[in-house]
Amino acid sequence: MRCTIAALAIFASSAVAVGNAVVSNKCTSTVYAWSVGSSVGAKQTIAPGGNFSEPLHSDATSGGIALKITAVDDGLYNGSPQQIFSYSLDGGSVWYDLSTAFGEPFSGKHVTVTSSGSPTIDWPNGSNPGGSQVKVGSSDQNVVFTACA
Ligand SMILES: *[C@@H]1O[C@H](CO)[C@@H](O)[C@H](O)[C@H]1NC(C)=O
Ligand SMILES: *[C@@H]1O[C@H](CO)[C@@H](O)[C@H](O)[C@H]1NC(C)=O
Repeated sequence: MRCTIAALAIFASSAVAVGNAVVSNKCTSTVYAWSVGSSVGAKQTIAPGGNFSEPLHSDATSGGIALKITAVDDGLYNGSPQQIFSYSLDGGSVWYDLSTAFGEPFSGKHVTVTSSGSPTIDWPNGSNPGGSQVKVGSSDQNVVFTACA
């Protein structure tokens, strides 16, 4: 009986662990990111080789979160092309997607979204290769967008 309770406690604690959403900048220039739910988060300035990371979470109003990434400072506010890495928690799963708005900020560059043990979104030249880009993974793993992969 004690063993069973201990096993349940371990199961319960692992079930609530969540991974991070990561924006990894492997480009040679700075990129900028905003975490957007029902409100817009602070501008994140990500130097070459740097990361921005936040715990996977939900927004009470919008549900999912969109990480909007630009190659231009203040790009969210000046109409620059946006890479949109969005995710949505669904119990023990996390749905993730990649799209663009106002153009392609990483045109000609390789961009990916990866999560250990789950399908990769792979845009070899920064353009949407077509077809559904939505993938599902496990919410206890990191989901990593990489610019200039
Ligand atoms: C950035 O994130 C990637 C993917 O999780 C990781 O491999 C790398 O070590 C991180 N780099 C830094 C500087 O934290
Ligand atoms: C990316 O590759 C696709 C398919 O090969 C091609 O149609 C498209 O023009 C390319 N885009 C860029 C920005 O190189």
